[in-house]
Amino acid sequence: MHLNGLVLTVLWASSWLCAVGHEVPDLVPVRNVAVIGAGAAGSSTAYYLRRYADEHGLGVNITLFEKTDRIGGRTLTINSYGDPNIHVELGASIFVEVNAILYNATKEFGLEPSSPYEKGLKSTSSKNKEDKDEIMAIWDGDRIRFSINESHSSWWTSARLVWRYGFFALRNAQKLMHKTIGKFLNMYNEPHFPFQSLTETAQNLGLLEETSVTGEEFLRKNKIPELLSHEFIQAMTRVNYASNLANIHGLDTMVATAPEGAMSIAGGNWQIFDRMVKASGARVLRNTSVTQVAKDPSSSSGPYYITTSDSHGSAKEDSGIASFDDVVIATPYQFSNMKVMSIDPVIDKIPYVQLHVTIFASPHRLSAAYFKVSPSEVPTMVLTTLPEGADPNSGSEGAGKAGFFSISTLRTLDNPKTGQEEYLYKIFSPKSVTPGFLSDILGVSIPDTFDTGEFQPHGTGQGTEDAEPISWYYTHVFNSYPKAFPRVTFQDPVLADGLYYTSGMESFISTMETNALMGMNVAKLIVDDMLGAAKEEVNFSNSDGRDGEQVILQEL
Ligand SMILES: Cc1cc2nc3c(=O)[nH]c(=O)nc-3n(C[C@H](O)[C@H](O)[C@H](O)COP(=O)(O)OP(=O)(O)OC[C@H]3O[C@@H](n4cnc5c(N)ncnc54)[C@H](O)[C@@H]3O)c2cc1C
Ligand SMILES: *[C@@H]1O[C@H](CO)[C@@H](O)[C@H](O)[C@H]1NC(C)=O
Ligand SMILES: *[C@@H]1O[C@H](CO)[C@@H](O)[C@H](O)[C@H]1NC(C)=O
Ligand SMILES: *[C@@H]1O[C@H](CO)[C@@H](O)[C@H](O)[C@H]1NC(C)=O
Ligand SMILES: *[C@@H]1O[C@H](CO)[C@@H](O)[C@H](O)[C@H]1NC(C)=O
Ligand SMILES: *[C@@H]1O[C@H](CO)[C@@H](O)[C@H](O)[C@H]1NC(C)=O
Repeated sequence: MHLNGLVLTVLWASSWLCAVGHEVPDLVPVRNVAVIGAGAAGSSTAYYLRRYADEHGLGVNITLFEKTDRIGGRTLTINSYGDPNIHVELGASIFVEVNAILYNATKEFGLEPSSPYEKGLKSTSSKNKEDKDEIMAIWDGDRIRFSINESHSSWWTSARLVWRYGFFALRNAQKLMHKTIGKFLNMYNEPHFPFQSLTETAQNLGLLEETSVTGEEFLRKNKIPELLSHEFIQAMTRVNYASNLANIHGLDTMVATAPEGAMSIAGGNWQIFDRMVKASGARVLRNTSVTQVAKDPSSSSGPYYITTSDSHGSAKEDSGIASFDDVVIATPYQFSNMKVMSIDPVIDKIPYVQLHVTIFASPHRLSAAYFKVSPSEVPTMVLTTLPEGADPNSGSEGAGKAGFFSISTLRTLDNPKTGQEEYLYKIFSPKSVTPGFLSDILGVSIPDTFDTGEFQPHGTGQGTEDAEPISWYYTHVFNSYPKAFPRVTFQDPVLADGLYYTSGMESFISTMETNALMGMNVAKLIVDDMLGAAKEEVNFSNSDGRDGEQVILQEL
């Protein structure tokens, strides 16, 4: 009888530990997991939960709560001119090849990557199939400090960079970036992955060296010359993180300078996360805001009770309460409008950058007069830096004399109403863009009604002369990412037994990939916890109670 019990236990355990696929044997307890937020982090949590659970033959029942009607969060596209065939990224627009989660998902789901940096200005206009020269310039509000003509050979571009900044400066900056990224990449693998504490992992990987100081200090310590730092690298931290080097830590600074193999997904990056959610088999509750997460105060872990409301305010009180074994909060807590009750998760409030994104179409190119160049040298991509000696906190939010962080000409296209060729622009700025500023940079008069919300472009004109100077526009203000001041502690992913948080990653590095990595990490922690619980149950049902685990290991 003793022996029979043992054999049964082993059979039961091995069938359950080896089961594969979504078919889960009856005896296997199913974990009910709630994921709150369907951005990069929440989608990745759901996707990897399913994958890891399947690998171990474990059952998970995933419910994904999303306040809005869409998957992707800060990764979202809009339709230019309201035309569903003309997509433009409003939020996160690029990722790089070294981003294994996004890159692998792109492959797995058969999504089409496209380079956001194709040579020449990508033209979708039928009038002008010839691409235009793309000129990237660094502007400080007074003058263009440096520019690169991307139609020139890469040899010529390199020569110009070397001539401006020096060969060793460039090589050392690149080495430094590779060294930092190399340290970071260990986070994907054992023994660092999965991690309970982001702070400890950052410390173990030596990454506090980067996060504990400003980009300015980090570059100086590593002997990168001021000109390269304050002109070129600062232009990158401004376009990527809306920050000057004095106000952003060294790790984000290095991430901002790592554009190798940049890509985006044709039709919108959000599709990666949409496919992840579909593959996870999660039950998705859209238009559903979580308002409260609570648990029985007397138990040390779950179950957790989630209260929701319809985000479109049809004011159904208590739209629903459901209970879950594990809860993953995959959105910055401070903006989530939800409360976590009866446990004391101290989730730090983090200062976030408020970023204004303005996208518009115009038949006009940027003004040569405004940027003080000849008409043939008008930049298509304007990055910015501070004038020499300027206070890094000058101007609104440190935008300095330029007043904005970047202007990109995304592409040329045909206005669907007039058939006229136009340019599609995107501006990142710390304040809303005014009609006066637009008049300046385009060299035409933009009506004062532009920023009052009353401005209704009609697009009735025929030629450039009498056409609307701005035929279509869209603005949005994001809490885009944290103000990444130097720090040595980070909000850890485990808030309490069964309660997880992904957004602590954002003070370390805020990108689609890193937040997705935190989602993958939390998924692994949950599945490891399930495996631990599974073993405990085997012990428990083993009448002998001593060597059950050993027997199982031998049998398997
Ligand atoms: C303008 C801009 C440009 C950027 N550019 C890049 C870039 O080029 N490359 C890059 O990698 N990263 C970029 N980023 C950063 C990147 O977008 C973010 O790091 C990442 O997308 C955040 O993902 P997340 O899932 O953690 O959060 P989010 O994307 O914010 O997702 C959180 C989700 O939770 C939902 N939610 C919130 N509260 C509740 C609630 N109470 N109940 C239910 N649901 C809730 C929200 O609706 C949202 O869908 C950019 C960000 C911005 C704003
Ligand atoms: C899965 O979770 C939902 C809550 O979203 C619940 O209604 C359902 O009963 C759960 N199924 C199982 C098998 O636990
Ligand atoms: C991505 O794919 C590569 C190659 O198949 C694999 O080695 C790696 O582990 C994958 N990484 C992730 C995060 O899925
Ligand atoms: C979400 O709400 C919007 C606006 O009320 C509505 O158009 C949409 O159909 C809703 N989606 C779902 C899945 O309920
Ligand atoms: C950019 O380079 C191309 C190709 O060499 C050249 O035709 C064009 O005039 C250059 N533009 C500027 C502004 O230098
Ligand atoms: C399970 O068995 C192992 C090995 O005998 C033991 O170390 C462990 O504490 C047991 N776990 C429980 C929950 O009894």
